Amino acid sequence: MADRVGNILDLNGKVALISGAGQGVGRQIALHMASYGAAGVIVNDFYAERAEAVAKEVRELGGKALAAQGDVGDFDGVAKMVEAGLKEFGSIDVLVNNAGNMGPNPDVTRSYFVDSTPEGWKPWLNVNMYGVLNCTRHVLPSMIANRRGSIITIISDAGRYGDQNSEVYAFAKAGAAGFTRSVARTNGRFGIRANSVAIAATRTPTTAAAFESEGNMQKILRQYPVGRIGEPTDVANMVLFLASDASSWVTGQTYPVNGGFTFGL
Ligand SMILES: NC(=O)c1ccc[n+]([C@@H]2O[C@H](COP(=O)([O-])OP(=O)(O)OC[C@H]3O[C@@H](n4cnc5c(N)ncnc54)[C@H](O)[C@@H]3O)[C@@H](O)[C@H]2O)c1
Repeated sequence: MADRVGNILDLNGKVALISGAGQGVGRQIALHMASYGAAGVIVNDFYAERAEAVAKEVRELGGKALAAQGDVGDFDGVAKMVEAGLKEFGSIDVLVNNAGNMGPNPDVTRSYFVDSTPEGWKPWLNVNMYGVLNCTRHVLPSMIANRRGSIITIISDAGRYGDQNSEVYAFAKAGAAGFTRSVARTNGRFGIRANSVAIAATRTPTTAAAFESEGNMQKILRQYPVGRIGEPTDVANMVLFLASDASSWVTGQTYPVNGGFTFGL
């Protein structure tokens, strides 16, 4: 490997599939991929119109995009989406497991764990746990065959330090990080790397309301040494690094991108 490459954050024609890329962090990751040399971007979202709108933005940046509507919690649906992506672009070299939060329904309520039921856990587990399992399960075979791939899973600091009243979400996100480490260990011999990115308060359509009140914002900011909350670009920058060959000696790690909300050793 050369000691130095021109632009280290260059995707060199890799194809990326990003789940939940119809808005927020996933959207920005898709746009970053297009801006930094991806040969193709597969824009997944539960909502077709969101996936199509972001695919259009990718094309406006000069990239190639495939809008892929689908629920990442649906094992067979994800298989079809991956198949369509491989047919369109020939390979999937980067998988970003980004779909998360409450899933497609923003009305899912958080309740005290002692009052919760398996029915209430399902929406959280569907996207944050099964979504990661399904996408990774279906993308891995072609990565193994091609002897290259980078899998990046967006988790949450909630899964690292234990957010209050977020037990099921924290369970799924911490599980996703453990899963990612195991994928990294098993598949390194095939040229595949896997890492997680743990993010904290980041301004997206889902979270924006929490940052509207000045009082609430001041309370939140007291916990952030850098003095601001995150923007989707902050996360996309790290994802780009982990997707590119600049991180070719980096695998099995969890990277906090969180303004110092928590520190890792
Ligand atoms: N925004 C934050 O403050 C924050 C903090 C910690 C972790 N995270 C994590 O970062 C990631 C991105 O967060 P965000 O705030 O940008 O998300 P968001 O909720 O704003 O957007 C997520 C997108 O994913 C789509 N989606 C949801 N469920 C899906 C499913 N089952 N199948 C396909 N698409 C689905 C939604 O339609 C939406 O367009 C998530 O994994 C989230 O858990 C976010």
